[in-house]
Amino acid sequence: MPRERAAFASVRIFASPTILQGSRSVVSTGGRIEHGKRAMTQTTLIANGTVVTAEGEFAGDVLIEGEKIVAVGRIAPPEGTRVVDAEGCFVLPGLIDNHTHLSMPFMGMMSSDDYDTGTRAAAAGGVTCLVDFAIQREPDNLRSALEQWRGRADGAAHVDYGFHMAITNASEPVLEEMTAMSDAGICSFKLFMAYKGELMARDDALAACMERARDLDALIMVHAENGDIIDLLVKRAIAHGEVSAIHHALTRPEFVEAEATGRAARIAEHIGTSLFVVHVTCAAAAAEIEAAQQRGAAVSGETCVQYLINTIDDLRRPGVEGCRYICSPPLRDAANHERLWGYVQRGVLESISTDHCPFTDEQKARGLENFSLVPNGLALIQHRLPKLWDEGVMAGRIAHSQLVDLTSTTIARRFGLNAKGALAPGKDADVVVLDPAAPRPYGVATSFMNVDYDLYEGETASASVRHTFSRGTLVYDRGEIMTEPGHGRFVRRTLRPAHRAEL
Ligand code: URP
Ligand code: ZN
Ligand code: ZN
Repeated sequence: MPRERAAFASVRIFASPTILQGSRSVVSTGGRIEHGKRAMTQTTLIANGTVVTAEGEFAGDVLIEGEKIVAVGRIAPPEGTRVVDAEGCFVLPGLIDNHTHLSMPFMGMMSSDDYDTGTRAAAAGGVTCLVDFAIQREPDNLRSALEQWRGRADGAAHVDYGFHMAITNASEPVLEEMTAMSDAGICSFKLFMAYKGELMARDDALAACMERARDLDALIMVHAENGDIIDLLVKRAIAHGEVSAIHHALTRPEFVEAEATGRAARIAEHIGTSLFVVHVTCAAAAAEIEAAQQRGAAVSGETCVQYLINTIDDLRRPGVEGCRYICSPPLRDAANHERLWGYVQRGVLESISTDHCPFTDEQKARGLENFSLVPNGLALIQHRLPKLWDEGVMAGRIAHSQLVDLTSTTIARRFGLNAKGALAPGKDADVVVLDPAAPRPYGVATSFMNVDYDLYEGETASASVRHTFSRGTLVYDRGEIMTEPGHGRFVRRTLRPAHRAEL
C-alpha cells in the first residue's frame, strides 16, 4: 500500500457509491461518475471540513478521483474511497506562489533552495504550484535559459511549477523568440528596472518587450525600482563608509520604487499591454498602480508577506542577522503595513506572494563589510499561509475567502494556470487541509527551507498545514514529506483567449 494511506489514522473505506444530492448543492462532472474505471484510480474524499473558495465557504466534502477534483458538496463516498477526516479544519485550494527564485544564480552566488528542498518547503506551507523565474543569460537567446531552468526542476520538484522568463537583453532575436516561449507555455515576461550591471533593462527594452507581449496576449512583469538612482546612492554611501546592512535600505528609498512603478505603468498604458508590478513594498508605489487603474490601464500588482510584517528596523539587527533581511526593494517602516493592507483590501494589490530567494548565513556574510555584496532575498516560501492566517485572518483584516483569492484563485487567473486555483470539478486536485487548532513553532527545527536560520525563530503560528495534496497525491502530511522528487510537473500556461488560439 502506498505510504499515503498508512499516514491517515482515520481512513475509512466505504461501500456506498452514491453522491448525495442534498440541500447543499453537489456539482459533479457530467453528473455521472464511472465506477468501473475507479478500480485503477485512487479516489479520495476529504470529508467534514469547512470548504473555502474565493466566493465563500460551507461545511462539505471534496471528492478527488486520480489527479482531479470530481465533486464538491455533501458527498457519500463511493466504494473503495479513502476518506480523510477534515473535521474542524479548513479545506482550501492549494496555494500558488507566483514569485520564487529557486537555484537562482544571482550576485555571484546561487540561492540556497533547489527544486527539491524548495518545493518540500512549499508543500509544507500549503503551496501546490509555484512560478519561478528563468533568467536570460545569453544575449540573443531565451531558449537556453528555459532549458537550464527545466533541467534544474524536472525530476526534482515535489509540487508543480511553471516559469516566467526574465529578459535581460531585448535583442531582435530575443523579441522574436518571445513567440516560441509563449508557445512553450511561458506567457509572462519580466524585466528588472534595477540591479544595474547585472539584470537591469532600460526603458527602450521594456517598451519593445511590452509591444511583443501585447501582440502575444502575454503579461509583462516588472521589478520597479530606478536602478540608476540606486547605483548613484550606493556608490556615495560606500564612499562615505556607510557599509552596514541598514544602508542597503537607505540607498533604495520609497521614491525610487514609486517613480519606476509610475513610469512602467505609463509606458504600459501607452502601449496597451497588461502589466503586473511585483513585490510592491510601500503605499507610494501602490498609489501609482491605483492611479493607473483609475485611468483604465491594465495594471495590477502584488505585495509579499514580508512587506506586511517586517520592517526596515530588521536590517539594524547586529552582524549577519541584519543581512538576512536584505532584499530589494527593501523592507519599509511599519507605517506602510496598514496602508498596504488597505491596498490589498481594495483589490489594488491583487495577490500576496513571497519572492522566496534564500541565502545561507555564510552567503549573506559576504557583505558584512559592504552591504552591496550581500545577496538579496528572503527565505519565506513555507511561512506565507500561517503568517497570513495570523496577520490577515485572525487579525480581522481579511476573510477566509479573501485569503484563498489572494494566494490562489486570482494568481491562477492572472498567470494562466487554468487547471489550478479553485476547488471545483475538473480542476487539479491541489488541496490543503489547514488545522486552525494546531499551533506550530517557526524555526530551523520545523523548517524545510535550506537555510540555517529562520526569520521567525521563537514565534509560533496559531494554525498549521495538516495535509497538502498535489494532483490527488499526498505530498505533505503533518510534518513529513511523502513524495519522491519528481512528483511535481512543469505546467504550461497560457493567457491567450480561446478565440485567438489559432492566431
Ligand atoms: O531581494 C530580492 N527580491 N531578491 C530576488 C530578486 C528580485 O529582485 O526579485
Ligand atoms: Zn525583484
Ligand atoms: Zn523576486
